Amino acid sequence: MKLIAFGVRKDEEPYFKNWEQENDAEIKLVPELLSEKNIDLIKGYDGIIGLQTTPYKREYFEKMKDAGIKILSIRNIGIDNIDLDAAKDNLIPITNVPAYSPSAIAEFTITQIMQLVRHIKIFDEKMSHQDYRWEPNISRQINQMTVGVAGTGRIGRAVINLLDGLGAKVIAFDPYHNPELEKRGMYVDSMEEMYRKADVITLHMPATKDNYHLLDNTAFSQMKDGVMIINTARGTLIDSEALIKALDSGKVGGAALDTYEHELPIFDHDLTGQKIDDPIFNNLNERNNVLITPHIAFYTTEAVKNMVEVALNCAATYLNEGKMTNPVVEIH
Ligand code: NAD
Ligand code: COI
Repeated sequence: MKLIAFGVRKDEEPYFKNWEQENDAEIKLVPELLSEKNIDLIKGYDGIIGLQTTPYKREYFEKMKDAGIKILSIRNIGIDNIDLDAAKDNLIPITNVPAYSPSAIAEFTITQIMQLVRHIKIFDEKMSHQDYRWEPNISRQINQMTVGVAGTGRIGRAVINLLDGLGAKVIAFDPYHNPELEKRGMYVDSMEEMYRKADVITLHMPATKDNYHLLDNTAFSQMKDGVMIINTARGTLIDSEALIKALDSGKVGGAALDTYEHELPIFDHDLTGQKIDDPIFNNLNERNNVLITPHIAFYTTEAVKNMVEVALNCAATYLNEGKMTNPVVEIH
C-alpha cells in the first residue's frame, strides 16, 4: 500500500512514521497542501491523505482518476471545501475523521466564551499601558446567562456538557433533535427564537449553501443588545460586514472568531511584519471586544494523533478490505 499525505506538519510526523512502521505501508509526507503545483506527485500512489481548508477542485479529482488514486482520506471533519460532485464523477471515494476530538473544539469554545464575557482582551489592553482600574468593565456571570448552541452534533453537545458544568442556561437549535437534549426541553423552534433569547450564541453546524451568511444584518437585528457571538465552525456562516455594523452599533457586544470567511490567505501563514491586505479582517482584529484566532480550536495533541491515525486506518481499510469507514463519498 502506497500513500501520499499532503500538508503534513512536524507535529504530525511521528504519528505517520509509527503507523507506517506498524503497517505494511509506504507513506510519502509532503509538507505543502495539495495544490495545482504538487498534484502531479500523486502518480504511483494508491491513496491520498489530506487536510486543508483550501479547495479540493474538480481538476484535482480528474488528475486523481488519471493517476489511479483509489481513495481520498481527509484527516479532518469539514467537507465544505470539497467538490463532492467532481469526486463522484471521477469515481474517487472520500472518507473523513468525524470525531477526532469534539472536546478539543468544545474546550476552546468555552475558553473564548469566558474570555469575552470577562473582558480579558480589554483588560490586557488597559494593563499594557499600566491602567489597572476595574471600571467600567464589569462582567456578567455565565451561570446567570442564556447560551444558544446552534448545531447539536458532536461538538455542540460537548459544548453543552461543559456549559452545564458552568451552570449556564442552555438553549439549542438543530433541525435534528438529539433525544437526550429533547427530553431536557433544550430546543427552541427556530434560530429567530434563539436570537431573541440568547446572551451568547455559539455556532457548531457545518457550512452549506443554505446557511451561507446565516448571521447577517437581519439576524443581528433580532438579537439581544450586547449579545456575544462565537464561531468555531466555519467563516462563511457570518456576514463579516454585517458583524462590523452590529459591533459598531453595540448590538453585538463581542465576538470570538476562530474561523473567518476570508481566512485562507491569512490563517496558518507567517505574515510577521507584513501589511494584511484585508480591511474587514483588520477592522475586526483591531477591536478590543473581538478575539480572532487562526482556526486552532482543533489543535491539541490528542486531536492531531487521532486525525492522523484514523485517516490512515480509513485508507487502509478501504484499500485492503474494500470497506468504507466514515464515508463522505461512496462509489458503488
Ligand atoms: P456534526 O455533524 O456532528 O454536527 C453538526 C450538527 O449541525 C448536526 O447535528 C446538524 O444537524 C446540525 N446542523 C446542520 N445545519 C444546521 C443549521 N442550519 N442550523 C443548526 N444546526 C444545523 O459536526 P461536528 O463534529 O459537531 O462539527 C461541526 C462543525 O465544526 C464542522 O462541520 C466544522 O465545520 C467545524 N469544525 C471546526 C473546527 C475548528 O478547528 N475550528 C474543528 C472541527 C470542526
Ligand atoms: C475540521 O476538522 O473541519 C477543522 O476545521 C480543522 C481544520 C484543521 C481543517
